[in-house]
Amino acid sequence: MKLWGGRFTKGTDKVVEDFHSSISFDQRLYRQDIRGSIAHARMLGKQGIIPVKDAETIIAALNNILQDIETGKAEFEVGAEDIHMNIEKLLTERIGDVGRKLHTARSRNDQVALDVRMYLKEEIIDVFGLLKKLMETLLNLAEQHALTVMPGYTHLQRAQPITFGHHLMAYFQMFRRDFERMTDVYKRTDIMPLGSGALAGTTFPLDRQWVAGELGFSAITENSLDGVSDRDFAIEFCAAASIIMMHLSRFCEEVILWSSAEFKFIELDDAYSTGSSIMPQKKNPDVAELIRGKTGRVYGDLMGLLSMMKSLPLAYNKDMQEDKEALFDAVDTIKGCLLVFTPMIETMRVRSDQMARAARGGFTNATEVADYLAKKGIPFRNAHEIVGKLVLYCIERDMALNELSLAEFKEASPQIEEDIYEAIDIIKCVEARKVPGGPAPGALNFSIASGRNWLKNLPS
Ligand code: ARG
Repeated sequence: MKLWGGRFTKGTDKVVEDFHSSISFDQRLYRQDIRGSIAHARMLGKQGIIPVKDAETIIAALNNILQDIETGKAEFEVGAEDIHMNIEKLLTERIGDVGRKLHTARSRNDQVALDVRMYLKEEIIDVFGLLKKLMETLLNLAEQHALTVMPGYTHLQRAQPITFGHHLMAYFQMFRRDFERMTDVYKRTDIMPLGSGALAGTTFPLDRQWVAGELGFSAITENSLDGVSDRDFAIEFCAAASIIMMHLSRFCEEVILWSSAEFKFIELDDAYSTGSSIMPQKKNPDVAELIRGKTGRVYGDLMGLLSMMKSLPLAYNKDMQEDKEALFDAVDTIKGCLLVFTPMIETMRVRSDQMARAARGGFTNATEVADYLAKKGIPFRNAHEIVGKLVLYCIERDMALNELSLAEFKEASPQIEEDIYEAIDIIKCVEARKVPGGPAPGALNFSIASGRNWLKNLPS
């Protein structure tokens, strides 16, 4: 008979049983479920709601069940529906009626909310670790490449010279915001819902604060309806994970472009690229492509959760059982991607020669010529036009701006002097962009130091 079978006169249809059972995926929550039940049982004993010795019998049996699950000795059943009832069933099989006391003053509705929150808190801590490792890697690479000149792009057209270090630090800022967003998600996940009951709390004198403390939660939920029907924390996690994926995907797109023969800015390590089954010459950036592709999955998880929750009347509805697969998928995907992305960029070979070559072409120093003229008192708009004509002149002759003779420069504008060559030297162009947040090595090192300092002071 089902644990809830009292008011039923016949069994569940087999098709229904298969359809609504969630054990195939929510068994992932067994540890949290048992930990939560142990805290609940202990509190029931402490409050005199059940005899202390019954609580102890329950706790000992739950610990044995935990061991048996971990060593593959316990078996779950589709008929027992979900992880919560499977564990309760194992418990009553082992200790009989005492086991049937565990569910006093509790509903699966607050139980599942508790389990998912406990699970997600652990996973967010893993994500913190992976993000930290990635950010450390970016800081180290940026430091090594503070003088590696490359073209910066707009519209994927070469625009102005920057350094590879500066480019990498742009991603550092993105992941730093991601970390802060996740920190915020953690705060709202870290709230303990047990005691909400099915929806209306309970008449038993629970000590919810004690349970929260026992399970390492910072606070308890303050409304029993909200306690069982809130999945904002899961949605927020998927939203923050989606933004991380979007950042990874942009980075991967650049890795893919940069490793093409057209760019040749980087070469991925053999351990992080793959070959083609037909074209012997190929070395493909499959890892980067796969991360880019998986971004869509995580967006899908977010959309799935938002749509699942939309229009649900308070409080718990079975629709909410659908939260788990989406959340688990988002967790697995984001962790898997971060785990492979960091060593991929850590081991890639950076072709600074190719980056410098590209920076020298494409007139990335044209703005510097205009700035040079503007500093001589020529209104910037006029300077812009003069340099535009010079660029056209160069394009027609297939030359770079620094290949123009002084006479040619003077023809464009008599105010140009010999010092123009120094002013438009690519290295000098980067060095001169000293504005805070700019690519000059000094400014960059300042932002690297501030990033390191921030990272160092994060709570571990
Ligand atoms: N397996 C269910 C879930 O994941 C547990 C809660 C069931 N509650 C209920 N009233 N049917 O949502």
